[in-house]
Amino acid sequence: RSLRIGLIPGDGIGREVIPAGKKIIESLPSSLGLSFSFVDLDAGFDCFKRTGAALPDKTVETLKKECDGALFGAVRYAPHLPSNDPSNHHPTNTNPPQSSPSTKVAGYSSPIVAMRKSLSLYANVRPCKTVLSPTFPSPTKTPIDLVIVRENTEDLYVKEEKTYPDPSDPTGKAQIAEAIKRISSKASWRIADIAGQIALRRDKMRKASGAEVSHTKSGMVTITHKSNVLSQTDGLFRSTAREALSQPHFNALKIEEQIVDSMVYKLFLQPEYYDVIVAPNLYGDLLSDGSAALVGSLGLVPSANVGEGIIIGEPCHGSAPDIEGKGIANPIATIRSVGVMLEFMDLPEAAEVIYKAVDANIAEGRLVTPDLGGRATTEEVTNDIIRRM
Ligand code: NAI
Ligand code: MG
Repeated sequence: RSLRIGLIPGDGIGREVIPAGKKIIESLPSSLGLSFSFVDLDAGFDCFKRTGAALPDKTVETLKKECDGALFGAVRYAPHLPSNDPSNHHPTNTNPPQSSPSTKVAGYSSPIVAMRKSLSLYANVRPCKTVLSPTFPSPTKTPIDLVIVRENTEDLYVKEEKTYPDPSDPTGKAQIAEAIKRISSKASWRIADIAGQIALRRDKMRKASGAEVSHTKSGMVTITHKSNVLSQTDGLFRSTAREALSQPHFNALKIEEQIVDSMVYKLFLQPEYYDVIVAPNLYGDLLSDGSAALVGSLGLVPSANVGEGIIIGEPCHGSAPDIEGKGIANPIATIRSVGVMLEFMDLPEAAEVIYKAVDANIAEGRLVTPDLGGRATTEEVTNDIIRRM
């Protein structure tokens, strides 16, 4: 099988970790019978400053027409630039830089959000797994191995907001702001369906790798919602997800549901309980960052953006300006993202080769980057993982 992979390093350490991901793909054992070709693509803040576009049309077109998969590094967002920085201002853009600390550079908006939209990447999948390490204490008492499956197209993130004068205020100064929370049965169904497929695949991969399978954790999906309060929106998510997960091919799975606030509580106290968590966009966003904290370093946590066509692997971290250019960024989040990308390309054996080599590198702890208490460089870690593959 021959596959074409787009490489989108973006900004900051994205340019250090994406080459590591590429090297890993090139080093997959030939016995897998795969051949890869690559295409370099542009996106991000530096790209915006150079070209006026954070996500050039060419990038989207190439991803759509040529690529089976892609790796996205990280992008820098403008709030980290002081507002008087002259580069905080595109030359062709005559608007003055906005002054609020939270606003972005005029004309600049997240290429990731745009990419998810234009390529219909409706699911964000984030596996969080502990590997016990001699150099780095686990933040949780018991190792965790869970996946957050976040709906990516709707909910409050449709960004339909408005602000208007509060009619109860005679001075006319008070305001009211409103946002639409939109939930559709179509999006809820497909996200629950993909969560079910992930749970089945994880169970299969666990059994194939000879891992001990604890009874409660084998193939479980937890549907997250707040339908006790939001009976229509979250109610629709809940009932649709229930229905999708009651399809006969999911019979082997244990299906549960949990109200999101009590889920946060349990995620803090007993994270090892969970297997696959499926959630609408906003809760999924919060739960995914919370879960990443449970494994201790952003440098370890991968993700994949999944939809009808292309699969895009993406480390969860940002552009890390504090360590940029030092060659010490942990490549593991990206390398694991290669694994998740391959899983969704229906290549679980290739993914497993990568996961095993990564786990062995962390467990030995000899060649790990400073975020894991080591002294190794991005390149040394990558080469150690390749040696183990
Ligand atoms: P960040 O994830 O870039 O960094 C947070 C902390 O984690 C830093 O101390 C950093 O050195 C460390 N870290 C992150 N990745 C690491 C790695 N691979 N190896 C070792 N240490 C690592 O988040 P921060 O500092 O809040 O944001 C920096 C920039 O990145 C901002 O412009 C932000 O908007 C953007 N960002 C982009 C994201 C994306 O492209 N998906 C996600 C999060 C932030
Ligand atoms: Mg987030």
